[in-house]
Amino acid sequence: MKSILITGASSGIGKALALHYAEQGNEVFAGGRNKQRLVELCLHRPNLHPFVCDLTNSNEIKSATDNLSLLDIVILNAGSCEYIDDPVQFDGELFARVINSNLISVGYCLQHLLPLIKKGGQLVLVSSSAQFLPFPRATAYGSSKAALTYLARTLEIELKPHGIGVSVVHPGFVETPLTAKNDFDMPGIISAEQAAQAIVKGIAAGKAEINFPFAFICFLKFFTLLPRFVWQKVAQRMTV
Ligand SMILES: NC(=O)c1ccc[n+]([C@@H]2O[C@H](COP(=O)([O-])OP(=O)(O)OC[C@H]3O[C@@H](n4cnc5c(N)ncnc54)[C@H](OP(=O)(O)O)[C@@H]3O)[C@@H](O)[C@H]2O)c1
Repeated sequence: MKSILITGASSGIGKALALHYAEQGNEVFAGGRNKQRLVELCLHRPNLHPFVCDLTNSNEIKSATDNLSLLDIVILNAGSCEYIDDPVQFDGELFARVINSNLISVGYCLQHLLPLIKKGGQLVLVSSSAQFLPFPRATAYGSSKAALTYLARTLEIELKPHGIGVSVVHPGFVETPLTAKNDFDMPGIISAEQAAQAIVKGIAAGKAEINFPFAFICFLKFFTLLPRFVWQKVAQRMTV
């Protein structure tokens, strides 16, 4: 039995992960701001516990961790997505909100949660396949996720001597409340349960990078190998 903390577990991928790990008999701490949704999730599941805090507030995370003991796996999955529709009338407030939600919050989590990870434990950061290529309107979201991938790759080197493994997750499109707002085609979209299965498998194998679904990731990686203008032509079509 492992002790696992998952942020962003009140819906979507995080919720599917929390249910999966709890059903396997692990002790799971499910994070989110929405206390009611977390209490409902944990009801009648004695090994599932709410971890309620706003991750953009360092003090709230500190208070929430007060009663935690050592953890085997920490999955920093919480995040949000907002698009910048007009690149000329650039919305700096929106940009700050997304960076705060997806990146700065992870820094606060690392400050308070890293000391709780056991030697031999694992830290998992949920980034996005959006970080492989520039997508129109994903200016803020993609920047936050590219930074998260860099952070994970750096921590992988730095935490190795401390006996902590680091994985970064790059999901393609997953059916969750986050993507329900999208008004465009989402090729290769999978369910939150399928995403959770891929992540669980990757963590169990100790993979440094967990990329899925396979075909969509291959499609994106192929374009990273081509001259820049090829992807620019494809991306420009997304803006019309
Ligand atoms: N869905 C996709 O296609 C997709 C693709 C690539 C990557 N991802 C990434 O996967 C992760 C999970 O996304 P999802 O699709 O499952 O989205 P989701 O269903 O909207 O879930 C987001 C979770 O993050 C939590 N959260 C957001 N801001 C928070 C904050 N300030 N403090 C605490 N918790 C916060 C939300 O909880 P509360 O509302 O209760 O606070 C919720 O549980 C995100 O990092 C996302 O960027 C998703």
